[in-house]
Amino acid sequence: MSKTALITGASSGIGYELAKCFARDGTNLVLVARDEAKLGQIASELRSPGLSVKVIVADLARPVAPSEILDATRAANLDVDYLVNNAGFGLGGSFVESDLRTELDMMQVNMVALVHLTRLYLPGMRQRRLGGVLNVASTAAFQPGPLMAIYYATKAFVLSFTEAIAEELRDTGVTATALCPGPTATDFQRRAQIEGSRLVRAKFAVMTAKEVAEIGYRAFLEGKVVVIPGLLNKIGAQSVRISPRALVRRVTRKLQEG
Ligand SMILES: NC(=O)c1ccc[n+]([C@@H]2O[C@H](COP(=O)([O-])OP(=O)(O)OC[C@H]3O[C@@H](n4cnc5c(N)ncnc54)[C@H](OP(=O)(O)O)[C@@H]3O)[C@@H](O)[C@H]2O)c1
Repeated sequence: MSKTALITGASSGIGYELAKCFARDGTNLVLVARDEAKLGQIASELRSPGLSVKVIVADLARPVAPSEILDATRAANLDVDYLVNNAGFGLGGSFVESDLRTELDMMQVNMVALVHLTRLYLPGMRQRRLGGVLNVASTAAFQPGPLMAIYYATKAFVLSFTEAIAEELRDTGVTATALCPGPTATDFQRRAQIEGSRLVRAKFAVMTAKEVAEIGYRAFLEGKVVVIPGLLNKIGAQSVRISPRALVRRVTRKLQEG
């Protein structure tokens, strides 16, 4: 019996590439994002005789969006086996001068909607003893991020939350995975207004969305709890653990500066 994956932020970047991974293996798709035209194009590209693709247009900054998404999948009689919480965005700049509305929306999209959707879809998975949640965190999860303070904090939340529920779910047939990419070539940097930062300009450190998605997808199917794509990103995440915290804060600030 074919399975169904619901992917948020499927209209671009890593989410789009993850959708292609699931489609390749014959998993039916529910694609969620705000851009209806892009979702429609992607649905037509991925749809095939044996594979259904449903589009749900939703703004995850609206607190009611997760319940509306659940209503839409129920109305379509769909059991969601795999939930991919990928939608997210960042904002560069000093916290004190930042646009508070955007920061609060970011917390809603990156954390609250992710938790809400997970809480809505997990009971069905646990009851069927099948499925998993793939949460897209970031290497930003491993340290505080001066000049992108809220974004880094949201990703630390996603990592902590995912590891905790992965342990709670052990031996239930359901898994939880945190995918922690480093800099990845997508629309993220333009939207976050960080195209000039040292981290983003270090081209050798930037992976493609396809590479990140393929690694994340494989690790998810294997039931891994935390996956960091790319050797440089793995080394970065490890070095943070053994370095003095004050040094970590300063170096991260330097990397975020233009
Ligand atoms: N690129 C990187 O360097 C990088 C590194 C580490 C982690 N990540 C994480 O990877 C995930 C995917 O980002 P990406 O790099 O692929 O960036 P992207 O190309 O900008 O894609 C972001 C996706 O999130 C969706 N989204 C944003 N705000 C939304 C909202 N309010 N409601 C619904 N959907 C929303 C966007 O769709 P619409 O605009 O159509 O709504 C889009 O599909 C994010 O969680 C990001 O934090 C990215």
